[in-house]
Amino acid sequence: MADLVIEGLTKRFGGVTAVDDVNLHVADGEFVTLLGPSGCGKSTTLAAVAGLDRADGGRIQVGGTVYFDAARGIYRPPEARSCGLVFQSYALWPHMTVADNVAFPLSLRKVPGPERKRRIEEVLALVEMEPYAARYPHELSGGQQQRVALARTLVYHPAILLLDEPLSNLDAKLRDRARAWLGELRTRLKLTTIYVTHDQIEALALSDRIVVMNGGRIAQVGAPQEIYDHPADPFVADFIGTTNFLPARVVDGAPEGGRALLELADGQRLEVQAERAASAGSRVTLAYRPEQMRIADGVTEGGAVLRTRITSRAYVGGLWQVGLDLAGASLRLETRQPPRGEELHLWLPQAGGILFRGGADVAA
Ligand SMILES: Nc1ncnc2c1ncn2[C@@H]1O[C@H](COP(=O)(O)OP(=O)(O)OP(=O)(O)O)[C@@H](O)[C@H]1O
Ligand SMILES: [Mg+2]
Repeated sequence: MADLVIEGLTKRFGGVTAVDDVNLHVADGEFVTLLGPSGCGKSTTLAAVAGLDRADGGRIQVGGTVYFDAARGIYRPPEARSCGLVFQSYALWPHMTVADNVAFPLSLRKVPGPERKRRIEEVLALVEMEPYAARYPHELSGGQQQRVALARTLVYHPAILLLDEPLSNLDAKLRDRARAWLGELRTRLKLTTIYVTHDQIEALALSDRIVVMNGGRIAQVGAPQEIYDHPADPFVADFIGTTNFLPARVVDGAPEGGRALLELADGQRLEVQAERAASAGSRVTLAYRPEQMRIADGVTEGGAVLRTRITSRAYVGGLWQVGLDLAGASLRLETRQPPRGEELHLWLPQAGGILFRGGADVAA
């Protein structure tokens, strides 16, 4: 077990800066998820840690051992790093049994017979695959194959675990189960782990901390709830969970934590508690999670009631998802009440919505 330090990591492919000055410290035993849209640099970061790809700048250190230091010309090849790597395509050897697949890294490392047998038994028990030791990969489900791939990595006791979308080949049900199982395994293992996914539920459910990446850079690092409740910018708010963005103009400004009076494009007004200072006359964007908004039902306490137009409605089992137009902005409401008619009075809380400065850079 070891901690991982990444400093100023930069990797370019021709004119593309795939990873741009990334700094990250993963504590010993911590489970950190890299999350972000396709092409944001997640796999490139992982490949640099594993040494599959040589970065252009920065430093990588695992538990006191320098893996890479551009300034000092240090580069350890992958086989001299203690990284357990599991990819999306788990590529088990098809002609080898489960036990032989797991034994393979140990024979490469010349681990003697009795020790090898003990480790294989131990790791197959860990991933709950002992009864399948004699089977071939094609005799296993996708989820079981994935466990064997993980066992094959864990069997040589890596200092850190690097998982690149290991569950993305599984169907939704299997993936749910594999996620729960991975969650249990991580509490038993307490192994320093970087997990890559673009599934936000997976990231929220599994991680000690989440690193949201955008265009090769880190947009925000924080605990799941911190990222969800206090996204640093509209990109993070939009990427994690569903967010409704509402552009507005500040009528009465407020300091951080104070109450600001805002006006929407159609002249409707609302008062909000400003998480960030807002100055009169400036343009802002309010962000609300679907679960923060309600049908007004005559209740006005603690919030504002606004007129909206219903643009769509869909029953999704237990809930209605309702599309709304509010002063030209598209919002999505989730409600147990069947929505009726063309118009809806929407209740928005005074506190809890997030106020971002500016209006133009938000993708609604
Ligand atoms: N070998 C390569 N040659 C050229 N460009 C590359 C190479 N590998 C990655 N890139 C580019 O670097 C950027 C980051 O890619 P990366 O694979 O790290 O993204 P990612 O976040 O893992 O995306 P995904 O979620 O789709 O797996 C992309 O613009 C990609 O096209
Ligand atoms: Mg990738």
